[in-house]
Amino acid sequence: MGMYNEKVMEYFLHPRNVGEIENADGTGTYGSPVCGDMMSISIKVEDDRIVDAKFKTFGCGSAIASSSVATEMMIGKTVDEALAITNKTIVDELGGLPAVKIHCSVLADHAIKSAIYDYAQKTGKHYAGLEGFDPNSDEHGE
Ligand code: FES
Repeated sequence: MGMYNEKVMEYFLHPRNVGEIENADGTGTYGSPVCGDMMSISIKVEDDRIVDAKFKTFGCGSAIASSSVATEMMIGKTVDEALAITNKTIVDELGGLPAVKIHCSVLADHAIKSAIYDYAQKTGKHYAGLEGFDPNSDEHGE
């Protein structure tokens, strides 16, 4: 015990925004090359603003907490603002993760960008924050 702070435990035990948005404007699924866990995020976008986000995670508690807090961070933001979310800002929002669990937040970071990438593909939009992002990359920059 004591490995996780209270906020991480709270999001793990009572995750917000679990599920999948019907007729989502973008959906991204990402598998961690580190542990093989999977995460998918779906988003609803109106006037370039993310009005809803949901997640499904087949992964560890840190991944569940990271993706849940990530959906909360996305909702209400413009697409550009949401692209500025990184695994670091997710970890900060959670009040920290153990070092061996940082890759779980990277999973959430990639799932966000994959969902927005899908939205951009469908709508033909271009976002500076997606430059160089490859949804199939298994790079796990920490
Ligand atoms: Fe796989 Fe956390 S151990 S996402």
